[in-house]
Amino acid sequence: MKAILINNYGGPDVLQLTEVNTPYITDPSQVLVKVRATSVNPLDYQVRRGDYASTFDLPIITGHDISGEVIAVGETVKKWRPGDKVYYSPRFGGQGSYAEYHLTDETSLSKMPSNLSFEEAAAVPLIGGTVWEMLVARANLKKGDTILILGGAGGVGTLAIQIAKSLGAFVYTTGQSLLHEQLQHLGADVVIDHHRKNIIEEIQAHTKGKGVDVIIDTVGGSTLSDSPLALANYGRVVTLVDIAQPQNLIHAWEKNATYHFVFTRQSRDELHHITKLIETGHVKPVIDSVYPIEEVKNAHQRIEDAKRERPLLGKIVLAL
Ligand SMILES: NC(=O)c1ccc[n+]([C@@H]2O[C@H](COP(=O)([O-])OP(=O)(O)OC[C@H]3O[C@@H](n4cnc5c(N)ncnc54)[C@H](OP(=O)(O)O)[C@@H]3O)[C@@H](O)[C@H]2O)c1
Repeated sequence: MKAILINNYGGPDVLQLTEVNTPYITDPSQVLVKVRATSVNPLDYQVRRGDYASTFDLPIITGHDISGEVIAVGETVKKWRPGDKVYYSPRFGGQGSYAEYHLTDETSLSKMPSNLSFEEAAAVPLIGGTVWEMLVARANLKKGDTILILGGAGGVGTLAIQIAKSLGAFVYTTGQSLLHEQLQHLGADVVIDHHRKNIIEEIQAHTKGKGVDVIIDTVGGSTLSDSPLALANYGRVVTLVDIAQPQNLIHAWEKNATYHFVFTRQSRDELHHITKLIETGHVKPVIDSVYPIEEVKNAHQRIEDAKRERPLLGKIVLAL
């Protein structure tokens, strides 16, 4: 089968289209899936450049989203049959999704939403589970809460805005001016241009000094230190970004703040909630662009390029 192999860590050029052996079922609980689409997540370029070198042995196939069709099932598999359309996130540390076929355990799979194409479905699994974990399991977001989503135009942000809105929250987010109309269309009530405005001052002004109930951090930097300045008393901060610099939490104490740290490895149960929201029309994946898998280097370049001509909005999908 065709696969994108990483033989050495580095820039997009290390992603090599290669012919490798097709995996086959060796355990009765396994399922073989034909991959129809996958995506680019920041996790993919982080793996590619060697941030997780201690987790993997080279050569590796990365990729953390799959939409596709079941091709064959092991003899104890009852729930899935050849032809079923499925979507899921491969287990972190195993073979990834940048390949024509993927072998997995039956418990990894979720039924693909009936109203999505393969390309749309491939934009959801990794971030879908993550966003549900952040907003519901950790932040306990409720109707009437106010929430600030930092990084509204990203893969996580575009989904988080829609889900927060569907849960009845008042949504503040950040994004470049060029994207404000699209972010409002997704459900954001107020969009702040983080390139031009001070986010804390804007939140203070909009909330008349009260702050927001929940802050979702998809950006990092000094967000954990700064968040209490935009947070309401007893507010919750949820971050999914690694902490690359020391943080000063002195204001967190004054606000009775709660911090949550999220690192999703695989989140099949949470994905079921997203499937429901998609099938009832509350959530639609936002696709920035679709590349054929052969152009994976350009796709990685686009997500990493800090000086893009056109800002990123939503997910980059790879079609097979
Ligand atoms: N822990 C987990 O389980 C988990 C799961 C999924 C993702 N993640 C992490 O979450 C992060 C976001 O993922 P993603 O898929 O949404 O990435 P993405 O699609 O690349 O989006 C990142 C967004 O952040 C915005 N941004 C960058 N700097 C900003 C700043 N200083 N203030 C406000 N916004 C800023 C960017 O907008 P501009 O281009 O306009 O700056 C962009 O819209 C990544 O670091 C990823 O590794 C973690």
